[in-house]
Amino acid sequence: MLDKQSPVPMYAQIEDYLKSQILQGGFVIGMAIPSERELTDTFGVSRMTVRQSITNLVNEGLLYREKGRGTYVATPKIEQPLSLTSFTEDMLSRGMKPSNKLVSFEKKIPEIDIAQELQLAKGEEVFIVKRIRYADDKPMAIERSYLPVKLVPDLELNNIEGSLYSFIEKDKRLIISHASQRMEAVLVNKEDAEFLQICMPSAVLMIERISYLTNDVPIEIVRSTYRADRYKFISEIRR
Ligand code: GLP
Repeated sequence: MLDKQSPVPMYAQIEDYLKSQILQGGFVIGMAIPSERELTDTFGVSRMTVRQSITNLVNEGLLYREKGRGTYVATPKIEQPLSLTSFTEDMLSRGMKPSNKLVSFEKKIPEIDIAQELQLAKGEEVFIVKRIRYADDKPMAIERSYLPVKLVPDLELNNIEGSLYSFIEKDKRLIISHASQRMEAVLVNKEDAEFLQICMPSAVLMIERISYLTNDVPIEIVRSTYRADRYKFISEIRR
């Protein structure tokens, strides 16, 4: 099956073969691909070569390894457009079931950077909500939201169990109009690794969103940690 005369290296040809099997449905989600030894025999190459192809596909998120068991076809990542939608809306629009686990809910005077970004006067309090967000019962992200108490003074536990945006917009009748967002890749810390059920070290995507009401008053700062193996952020750009 491999073209030994081709300038395309062997590992890349094997990678192409495995990729086409995944994309064309020969190997389906959750299925084990042939073992390294089987692939070595099939293609008549060294184990190192096979391993390199597999590692590249693991790094691309198409396959995942389970220690001592084998290599499996991964669930495709969620392709999330960069837009001002809520987690609940995003998951429902994909036909997935959103749910939350509340880790903590506090009311206090925030640290200086949060107070500045939320344009708070000295001594003004925020609600700090820390939630694990699930899609179809799988952990996707951790969110730490900071909301000025003066804008949502009656925020309660039962509002956080569902959608925060629904509470802000439907219950409080405030209009979230625009936001700024920063995104960076970082290595997960111990606490988040446990919440997200991932090993250390793993890369995660950190996003900070500051959302504003129509009058440019900040309504939330949200610091989210997304599983990099489950998310891909996409944006349409024009020139
Ligand atoms: C996304 C955003 C957050 C926002 C949240 C609201 O995850 N990154 O900034 O606070 O959605 O989600 P929900 O309305 O489901 O609570």
